[in-house]
Amino acid sequence: MPGDVKKKRPVQCQECNDSGWIIEEKDGFEAVKRCDCFQARRKKKLLADARIPHRYRHCTLENFDTNLGGKEMSLNLRKNQVSLAMAREMSEDFVRKYPKEEKGLFFMGNCGVGKTHLAVAIIQDLIRKKGVPCVFYDFRDLLSEIKATYSSNSPISENTVLMPVLEKEILVLDELGAQKVTEWMRDTLTYIINQRYNEKRKTIITSNWLDEAEDEDDTLTGRIGYRLRSRLFEMCRVWEIVGEDYRRRE
Ligand SMILES: Nc1ncnc2c1ncn2[C@@H]1O[C@H](COP(=O)(O)OP(=O)(O)OP(=O)(O)O)[C@@H](O)[C@H]1O
Ligand SMILES: [Mg+2]
Ligand SMILES: [Zn+2]
Repeated sequence: MPGDVKKKRPVQCQECNDSGWIIEEKDGFEAVKRCDCFQARRKKKLLADARIPHRYRHCTLENFDTNLGGKEMSLNLRKNQVSLAMAREMSEDFVRKYPKEEKGLFFMGNCGVGKTHLAVAIIQDLIRKKGVPCVFYDFRDLLSEIKATYSSNSPISENTVLMPVLEKEILVLDELGAQKVTEWMRDTLTYIINQRYNEKRKTIITSNWLDEAEDEDDTLTGRIGYRLRSRLFEMCRVWEIVGEDYRRRE
């Protein structure tokens, strides 16, 4: 029936008619090359697949504020400013050098100092500038997703959840911390970290656990153990961001 004929999507790219290829004539021969729209579409898909939480999509390295203002800064404020500037510099450096950078990044720090902001900014930049496949996981959400696969009526397997976590070129593991660590959690983290380490895949980690805390059990070592801490330090450049909670700055 004529009324049922599917409407054709209008052509988006006039250059290649949406085929992604352009035919060029060179020295009397025809050669094909990728159309610019192909990369643009690929990057759009990489961004859509990166699982970046909505509330962090605005985060870029450019809008990461390192200026705490005021001429008469206390020593502490100045220290904070240096710490923020260093964190941003490390992030910019990582993107600039990628894929030559040997190590991932590990940002430690208290609540609201901008760890997740930087991690998201880095992967958005890597996708936009270099077309690198990246994925973002909140560590707690990841554990919940894995746990859900253990139920007998789960439609997907544990491997399906773990595959992108192990294999994506860049993984952000956000929010290591803020909960009690069970042996299963530690084993899962060890497995993920070791697999990625063996394949030389870079990981960007953020954590509320610091190297020093009043109670030793609350330190990074106290939470995840000496071996795993040592592995993380081996595979990442580590920086503690010292500062105030940005959410309370205003
Ligand atoms: N230096 C900064 N410049 C601009 N925005 C910032 C900066 N630091 C933090 N923010 C913003 O403040 C909010 C909180 O930052 P973010 O979530 O990155 O902190 P966090 O260190 O990850 O905290 P948490 O430990 O609670 O996870 C975000 O909306 C982020 O964009
Ligand atoms: Mg965070
Ligand atoms: Zn095109």
